[in-house]
Amino acid sequence: MCGIFGYVGRRVDAGSLAIDGLKSLEYRGYDSWGVACKTGNTLTIQKETGKISAVDPADFGTACSIAIGHTRWATHGGVTKENAHPHLNETSTIAVVHNGIVENYEELKEDLKRKGHTFRSDTDSEILPHLIEEELKTRDANTEKSESVSGDFTAAVRRACLRLSGRYAFLALHTESQTLVAAREGSPLIIGVDTDGYFIASDIPAFLAHTRTVQYLDDGEMIATDGKTILFLDIRTGHEVRKREIEISWSVKQTQKGEYRHFMLKEIMDQKDSIARAINQDEEEIRTIAQAIKHAQGTFLVGCGTAGKACVAAEYFFSVLAGHHVNYAPASEFKLFHHFLKPESLLIVVTQSGETADVLEAMKIAKAKGSKVLSIVNVQGSTVARESDYTLLINAGPERAVASTKALTGQMAVLLLIAYALADKLQEGKLLLLETSEMINDMLNPRYVEHLEALADTIKRHENLYIIGKSWNYPMALESAIKIQEVSYIHAEGFAGGELKHGPIALIEKGTPCIVLTGKDEVTADILSNARELSARGAFIIGVSPERKEVFDEWIKVPDAGAAQAIVNIIPIQILAYFLAVKRGKDPDMPRNLAKSVTVK
Ligand code: M6R
Repeated sequence: MCGIFGYVGRRVDAGSLAIDGLKSLEYRGYDSWGVACKTGNTLTIQKETGKISAVDPADFGTACSIAIGHTRWATHGGVTKENAHPHLNETSTIAVVHNGIVENYEELKEDLKRKGHTFRSDTDSEILPHLIEEELKTRDANTEKSESVSGDFTAAVRRACLRLSGRYAFLALHTESQTLVAAREGSPLIIGVDTDGYFIASDIPAFLAHTRTVQYLDDGEMIATDGKTILFLDIRTGHEVRKREIEISWSVKQTQKGEYRHFMLKEIMDQKDSIARAINQDEEEIRTIAQAIKHAQGTFLVGCGTAGKACVAAEYFFSVLAGHHVNYAPASEFKLFHHFLKPESLLIVVTQSGETADVLEAMKIAKAKGSKVLSIVNVQGSTVARESDYTLLINAGPERAVASTKALTGQMAVLLLIAYALADKLQEGKLLLLETSEMINDMLNPRYVEHLEALADTIKRHENLYIIGKSWNYPMALESAIKIQEVSYIHAEGFAGGELKHGPIALIEKGTPCIVLTGKDEVTADILSNARELSARGAFIIGVSPERKEVFDEWIKVPDAGAAQAIVNIIPIQILAYFLAVKRGKDPDMPRNLAKSVTVK
């Protein structure tokens, strides 16, 4: 959720680096921001409510070679300057930025208050600098004694971590030490290794302009770095941990908007080639995975939000194409199904970020039962990718807009490929997806986009909108609803077409826009019949279909993609959602109340 950034090294513009880094993390939280720069033994703190995008890095010109910063997505405490990070200890010598939730903060806060600490914010995070301060005081009573303030500071942070429960990633600075200390339990932190120093951030784009060499911090680990060397420690034992350096394939260009006004539109357009990249998988590996699914005693799929809709689509792919039954549960509900997991079961985890807390929790449950985990992930090196038994990267490139678009179609393409492999028709599936990718490339031309912009203009004032689909278009109806809701704030709902007459049809009034997702297959007649039921009640029918039908008041033409129809059909809806947001004066890249990576449960 929140984005955190730190730098320590030879450069003396650490403050500006922090502002720039935080700007590229803004998709993780954008209600307030803050930076702490250390010059000599002085900490300069600046924090504000509002978006960091409006801040000029040049205003952070004070020479400083160590800084930490934060962009916030509020969990505990409202959006106020006091609640913005960094937070300080009693004597303002320790600054901390934190992502996650300290679950036992109330109990710790009471204890700290009894010891004379006072608190200025309503956040759970503020206890961290106070706790570290308290641990620094008690160093003599502990076995860890150090020759230096930095050593003492690192040891105090470690002891503070041992008192925390919950999920966290935090960075800490001390006025008396040139060491930046960071710790991780459940929330992401990645180290960028540069010749001049070290970057530490919640996500790679924050330092991609400076280095593509990374080191991953795992749960239960911490680091201490003075910019010249870095020490990785196991928080529980205090022992050193060895880490590899990994080269990242993402480029800076991929993380920028380029000619587009918003990341959302850019990422929708990236689908001209991202699907071809997604299916460029090692065929032997896909066949091995298909065999693992075939022989598993129970295959379960989990994901959240949009990734969850890719899982529902996969239930149809596996059933229709391969006659194979798999079970989906939203990752947040998965623990209720743990009785069905065995060591021979397989959990398929679908996630763009690879850091979603509910998904990580589901993985933990499966692993505790000895089940194997296959992940379909976008972010290389993310926690899910690193902790799975098998990982397939969808290679969509960085997805910055909160609304997930190209990651979804990449996930569905990989799942469809696996379904074909399960049916022993891998080549057929690959060919279909390659053709689909080409058809999408053709479809995404300026005239097509203009048509959807005009349609958005026609329906932008409606406050209710419904979407129906059948078979694999049913999860796309659900996904259409998420896309429209999250960026335009129109109340949109998706249904299986056949369900309308069991209740939802009561919502239809004269002129209510209803989108009908269809292909050219054995369920087309049924969904068109559902469309006529809506039309008869006065609905304005928008058909997304390879063919024009008389029931459509408006037709959005899509190519006929057979079993890949769901992948094709969702794309015009992504564009429509984008324009609905823009035309209603909303920022589609930063929808209210949302963050890109949901790293809290
Ligand atoms: O990173 P993940 O794919 O695990 O994220 C899952 C959801 O939080 C995400 O898809 C969310 O629903 C999007 N904002 C939808 O556009």
